[in-house]
Amino acid sequence: MATDEPASEHALRASRTYGAAADHYRRAALGFWDRFGAATVSRLRLPPGGTVLDLCCGAGASAIPAARAVGPAGTVLGIDVAAPLLELARARAADEGLANIEFRHGDATRTGLPDGGFDAVVCVFGVFFAPDMAAFAREMWRLTRPRGVLAVTTWGPGLFEPANSLFWRCVGEVEPALFKAFNPWDEITAPAALAGLFSRAGVPAPAVVAEAGQHRLDHPDRFWDIVLGSGYRATVDALSPEQRDQIRQSLLAELRAREIACLRTDAVFGTAARPPEPAADQAGNRDGQAERDGRDGRARISEPQGQGGMAGEPGDDRRVDGAVKPVRRALVREQGAEHRDEDRAASEQDTRPGTGGGGQQGPAGPRAFHEPPREKSHHPIRACPVCLHR
Ligand SMILES: C[S@@+](CC[C@H](N)C(=O)[O-])C[C@H]1O[C@@H](n2cnc3c(N)ncnc32)[C@H](O)[C@@H]1O
Repeated sequence: MATDEPASEHALRASRTYGAAADHYRRAALGFWDRFGAATVSRLRLPPGGTVLDLCCGAGASAIPAARAVGPAGTVLGIDVAAPLLELARARAADEGLANIEFRHGDATRTGLPDGGFDAVVCVFGVFFAPDMAAFAREMWRLTRPRGVLAVTTWGPGLFEPANSLFWRCVGEVEPALFKAFNPWDEITAPAALAGLFSRAGVPAPAVVAEAGQHRLDHPDRFWDIVLGSGYRATVDALSPEQRDQIRQSLLAELRAREIACLRTDAVFGTAARPPEPAADQAGNRDGQAERDGRDGRARISEPQGQGGMAGEPGDDRRVDGAVKPVRRALVREQGAEHRDEDRAASEQDTRPGTGGGGQQGPAGPRAFHEPPREKSHHPIRACPVCLHR
């Protein structure tokens, strides 16, 4: 383990779930792990020679691109509680000849690592497993050195819809006690919720960008690979073999009948550049520099336009023209940002249609070399023929 402290009950549950999921984690249908890991790292402009800590690193989806980015002079430490995923990660690193990366088994919320030890701290689809997400984010911030960067990526709303709802419906019919009994990724899906989490963790001025996404399967049956290679595995492994088979058959029959092979995979990327040491910071504040830099403590949030969540949802006619409309940029005061999705309306918003800036105004002053890149507008999303014709 990374520390002598025993792992928490939550961590042990994650260990069982993802340890089991390791046998499907690298299947083609689960290519989204690598895609979002790489997308998170690409926002950070990691410099050669940088030091990176990847918490809840899984099979190395973000740690491996980070190791490539920092090069032989840099180092990456990945920590996860699921030993079989770490084995996959080590094998991948060895295949690539990456000697600058170490994967360590342990509870990411209790690493015992020293303050400010890393230029970048990354956590992709892991923060919501912690019983106290704010404490976990505060711990990540503690590990981030001044002028370093923290990156936390979460899923957006409606993950894997429309298959997700069908999965839970089938589970509820067969074993009601397991209906959504384990789906922590739904705890924090709105950009304002992630901004609120940063705020509660004492992380100032995060840039939070929501991106609509879709994930295509070769065949509807491939959704079962996702079930077995993701957090759904906790539910499936709690069923009897007969129940599992019943759910698999009814779910796949429904997915095939509706030709569902395109799934919603929206994500929310949160980044925050850690200000320089206090002395330099105070000097900056004296002449108002912090305000101009975007270090005024306010979150910069970028989310797709419209009230109904992110564009790109299967059946969402905002996709019909093949592109998502320009994003709306919202400024949310730290104190106003709530951590529940339904409280999104509490946000104080500065609507500037067409800016498409992604809200990444982050420190412009003396440029932190890890400063996240300014965002372009959202990528166009092509209409999915399967979903549109459903
Ligand atoms: C959804 S997976 C994401 C893994 C990886 N970041 C990726 O994007 O592929 C969540 C990971 O968090 C790990 N995890 C959850 N709680 C943890 C904890 N307290 N300490 C270490 N790892 C944890 C799980 O074992 C699992 O590998």
